[in-house]
Amino acid sequence: MPDWRPRAHFTPARHWMNDPNGLVHHEGTWHLFFQHNPEGPDWGNMSWGHATSTDLVHWTEHPVALTHDLESGEQVFSGSVVVDHDDTSGLRREGDPYPPFVAVWTSAREGHQAQSLACSRDAGATWERCAGLVLDRASADFRDPKVSWWEPGDGSTGFWLMVAVEAVERLVVFYRSSDLWHWELLSELGPLSEPAGIWECPDLVRLPVEGEPGAEGHVLVLSGNDTTVAGCGTWYAVGAFDGVRFTPDARGFRRLDHGPDDYAAVTWNDAPDGRRVLVGWMANWAYARDLPTTPWRGAMTLPRDLSLRRRAGGELALVQRPVAQARSAPGLQWHEVELDVRDRPSAVVELAGGDRGDVARVGYDRGTGLLSLARGPVAGDARPFHPAYPCVSSVAVPVGDGVVRLEVAVDSCSVEVFAADGEAVLTALVFPDGPMALRAIPR
Ligand code: FRU
Repeated sequence: MPDWRPRAHFTPARHWMNDPNGLVHHEGTWHLFFQHNPEGPDWGNMSWGHATSTDLVHWTEHPVALTHDLESGEQVFSGSVVVDHDDTSGLRREGDPYPPFVAVWTSAREGHQAQSLACSRDAGATWERCAGLVLDRASADFRDPKVSWWEPGDGSTGFWLMVAVEAVERLVVFYRSSDLWHWELLSELGPLSEPAGIWECPDLVRLPVEGEPGAEGHVLVLSGNDTTVAGCGTWYAVGAFDGVRFTPDARGFRRLDHGPDDYAAVTWNDAPDGRRVLVGWMANWAYARDLPTTPWRGAMTLPRDLSLRRRAGGELALVQRPVAQARSAPGLQWHEVELDVRDRPSAVVELAGGDRGDVARVGYDRGTGLLSLARGPVAGDARPFHPAYPCVSSVAVPVGDGVVRLEVAVDSCSVEVFAADGEAVLTALVFPDGPMALRAIPR
């Protein structure tokens, strides 16, 4: 089997991984916790794995942070971590060298999901569960709390803001707290026609508007899964959060990544220099359980810096840029691609990967205005590991002067296409037979 272990994307040393959890930056260290089965290659025994990095590209994996509890049947589902500098939670003990790190996570049992706390007094290295549930809606599908400190910006006091979901009812629920223990319901959003399917892993972020000093917008990130390949992905809405409710703008939710493999994407808390950095699970629930890698299963996307850009007409669009450090990461290929359709209807580049021929194609069609990413196997007789795996994804991209400019990051089992200067992104897993090379397909 080819070595599909990515060089510059996080993978666990062994066993199953899904969503990024507990993303928090503290004193130069980026913490990445993740949904993990510490005992095997399949989803189950859900626990939080842990890794850290100083550059978001090279990761060191640490012992499991929060473990499922077989005896009581409790699994540790997705959630977030805050650094409680002012000890609002009262969890700080005298002599502790660090402020408490507090994890807010979903305690998942058969037919019941509610939120719990855990605390680390050694800056994320070891964790203790706090007893009991802190927020219970007597629901079977209440999960994925993302907690961050919210400064209203109008001089009023800040508070801990939680966004979570009623996954099956398709609601994003907003709560506030001053101490992380007591939560007050602010509002609920949904259901809406998009995203289709169940709603998971929400995040609310404030983002700067490029080129407009002081201007910012609020963005709600949300994953949706309708069990199809095309309908499992991360979405976003630009809007306004007034401290109580989030009102999406007229465009509603749009896809954050138009490729098949970017789910449960959320951002780091406390990133330095006003940065907002997002990372997603580079997989799709339609076939994630069958991914052909071993002894690990599951990778993260490249982390991406987020901002907003004002388009002609005034509306704001999300911009994603792979973090700068990824550009110099050994083993990661960066391609600047120009798809030139000035005097032809379409242009295509092919990603070849050994004997099996092309594993992916990226093309632009002037007639439809669509940039597409097809991934295979699209040649040879290799059978896909899952029938839903071969697919074509696309996104509308303006053609401008007739040349569509792309940045393409290729790692051992992935391709990430950034178009329209970060406004359009397509991420896909690829499983080549050999080393990958990108080449133009002659017309
Ligand atoms: C999203 C998700 C979350 C849940 C976790 C369980 O991929 O289904 O809603 O917390 O995975 O592993």
